[in-house]
Amino acid sequence: MALSRRAFVHTLGVGGAFVLSGGLVAARGREALVGMGRAAAEPGWSDWVPGLDEPAAIRLSSNENPNGPGEKALDAIRAALGESNRYPFAFASSATAAIAKRQGVKEENVLVGCGSGEILHMSVMAFTSPAKPLVVGAPTFEDPEHTAEAIGTPVRRVPVNAALELDLAGMAAQSGGAGLVFLCNPNNPTGTVHAAGAVADFIGEVRKASPDAVILADEAYHEYVDDPGYKTAIPLALEDPHVVVSRTFSKVYGMAGLRLGYAIARKETIDRLRPFRLANNVNVLAAAAGVATIADDQRIAREQQLNRAAREYTRKALADVGFPSRPSNANFIMVPIHRPAKAFQDACREHGVLVGRVFPPLVDHARISIGTLDEMRRAVEVFRRVLA
Ligand SMILES: Cc1ncc(COP(=O)(O)O)c(C=O)c1O
Repeated sequence: MALSRRAFVHTLGVGGAFVLSGGLVAARGREALVGMGRAAAEPGWSDWVPGLDEPAAIRLSSNENPNGPGEKALDAIRAALGESNRYPFAFASSATAAIAKRQGVKEENVLVGCGSGEILHMSVMAFTSPAKPLVVGAPTFEDPEHTAEAIGTPVRRVPVNAALELDLAGMAAQSGGAGLVFLCNPNNPTGTVHAAGAVADFIGEVRKASPDAVILADEAYHEYVDDPGYKTAIPLALEDPHVVVSRTFSKVYGMAGLRLGYAIARKETIDRLRPFRLANNVNVLAAAAGVATIADDQRIAREQQLNRAAREYTRKALADVGFPSRPSNANFIMVPIHRPAKAFQDACREHGVLVGRVFPPLVDHARISIGTLDEMRRAVEVFRRVLA
C-alpha cells in the first residue's frame, strides 16, 4: 500500500508531527537534489526541481519507493523516538552489526553513511585529487562528479554505448592515472547492468591501467535487478583493497528521507574512507529502522514484485504508443522520446506528473521513476497526451 505523507504521520502517532516537520524537505526528493550537487544547498533550490512543492503531483522524478519504509521500520522508529536526545553512537554500532550480519562480512568491513550519497562523497574525497582524476560514465548518477568539481578533481566522462550500457572498455582505457572509477551498476539513469564476469574483467583492466585507482561499485538498485548474469561486487571488495561497494536503504527499503547507506570494503580501504565521514552521520531513527528492516526478505520480495509489475505496465503502455524502452533493472525507466526531455518534463508537470531531470548527453530521453501501479496508470494517460 502506498503511504501518503498524511498516512505516514498518522502511522507514526504522537511523534509523527515532529518527524514530519523535520522531514518535509527530505520528502521533496533527495535524489533530485543530490543530482544537482551544490545547487541543492543554495537558497532557491526548488527552482531547480520544479513542482516538488505541489502536493497533488505524482512524483516520478527521484527514484523513490512510493510504498514507504514498512511496518517493521515504522515500529522501530516509534520505539527509538525517545532516544532522540542522545547521540546515536549505539544505534550506529547496531546498524553496522546488522549490515555485517546481513552481508556475511566482519564489522570492520562496513562503514555506514548518511545515505549512500555520503559514501560516494567520501570516496571522491579519499581517492581523488587535482592530480588523480575521477572516471565516470555519461550519463550516470552525478553526485561523485559534483564532489570532484568542488575539490578541483578533473572528471573524465565516457559516453554510454548505443545500448545505453556503460562503455566498460572505454572507461578502463580512460582510467590511466585516475584516483577513482565510478561503476554505477545498475546505472542510474539508464537502468542497465553488467554481468559479474564483465565487472571482474573491468576491475582487472582498470587495475592494469592504473594500479592505484579505486573502483567504486554503486549498487543502490541492487535489489531491483532481474538480469540473472548480475551479481554483487561485494566478494571482489573483500578480496581487493581497490574495490568499494556502496548500498542504500533509500530504494527497495523505502527510506530515502531517513538517510542510511553503507560501504563494504576491506578494513584498510574503510580506514581510508572513514576520516572523510561526518561525525554522527547516521541518526537514531534511520539506524533503528535499518536494523529492523534489513533482513525482512518477505517485504523486499513484495517491493520487487510491485516495482516490476508497475514498471512493466508502464513500459508496455509506452511501447504501445510508439515509445519502446530497453529493459530496466531498477525502479525507473529511460525512454527515448525523440524530443527534448526538458519540454517533456515541463509538459508533464503542467498535468501534475513530475518526471526526471535531463541527463546529458541523452537529452531526448526521459527518465521516469516507477510509482504505484495506480500512479503509473494515471501518469501513462498524461504521457500519452503529451507525446501525442
Ligand atoms: C546510483 C545512485 N547512487 C546513490 C544515490 C544516493 O542515494 P542515497 O544517498 O539516498 O543512498 C542515488 C540516489 O538516487 C543513486 O541513484
